Amino acid sequence: MKIYNGVSMQDKNILCLLDFDEADFKLFLNRAVDLKKEFKAGKKNSTLSGKTLGLIFDKPSTRTRISFEAAMIQLGGMPTFISSTDTQISRAEPVADTMRVLNKYIDALAIRTYSQKFISEFAEYADIPVINALTDLYHPCQVLSDIMTVIEKKGSYENLKIAWVGDGNNVANSWINAAASLDFELCLGCPKQHFPNSDILENALSKRKKQSKRENIFVTKDPFEAVSNADVIYTDVWASMGVENEGEKRKKEFAAFQVNSKLIACAKKNVIVMHCLPAHRGEEISENVLEGRHSVVWDQAENKMHMHKAILDILIDR
Ligand code: CP
Ligand code: NVA
Repeated sequence: MKIYNGVSMQDKNILCLLDFDEADFKLFLNRAVDLKKEFKAGKKNSTLSGKTLGLIFDKPSTRTRISFEAAMIQLGGMPTFISSTDTQISRAEPVADTMRVLNKYIDALAIRTYSQKFISEFAEYADIPVINALTDLYHPCQVLSDIMTVIEKKGSYENLKIAWVGDGNNVANSWINAAASLDFELCLGCPKQHFPNSDILENALSKRKKQSKRENIFVTKDPFEAVSNADVIYTDVWASMGVENEGEKRKKEFAAFQVNSKLIACAKKNVIVMHCLPAHRGEEISENVLEGRHSVVWDQAENKMHMHKAILDILIDR
């Protein structure tokens, strides 16, 4: 186990937020807030000068990839995009071999891919931090920066009701993992056939039990119950990357789960509406809610960059 700035983390990687305890969350959240302040004040920071971040992205990305690249450049380091198709990864060079070579060239590796197992395999052979930039199962860095946005807008995450509406997907799973350590209530409203993964739910709840923390994660198939009295409403696409072929079928299954004026009227008056983006207007969210006064999606997208700076600043060895 490595100690980062006095706080112990399971290891040097960010693979899954279930590995985090509350102190780990606070470490990243506080550092991101400080780095954002410093950036807004126009202060230069070159703490990662001479360091290189590798990025392997097997799925498309606008926000995550570019904000990680910008984060690295703003901290004085260099990002390098590693295309799976143009490297020997595409010719089945084993992950063990690829990673043991990358260890010699770069100082951290961010990966967006399909399988969580693929990232874990990289981590197994890595001497450098491996960062999950989204898999089919989790999107941990997204939820870390989202919690930063919640704190910015609401003062704290504690004792809030956070409603997830829609697909029990990778982003939802990372919210469940965060709820295992943090004291907010998470209520997920999803169609029955798209409830979050039951193992992920059970693991999160049993982690809370072990710490004698109250049960705070609930799942319902009624979107109105999920958002009732909520402080935060969060939604995401109905068909994530990799299941786009189910798009038409899912439009029918999720029809009652659109975040629109009628739904948000059941939440608190000052509810904030979040979406990790990209958004499909008229599907999971109505145009007027996405662009309306409750929406914080553009600040939310900005905070990804500040959080990614914190992640690189904390994890990269200097
Ligand atoms: N929110 C998010 O991860 O967006 P990208 O797919 O554009 O990276
Ligand atoms: N759940 C979405 C998130 C995109 C940022 C997906 O995996 O496509």
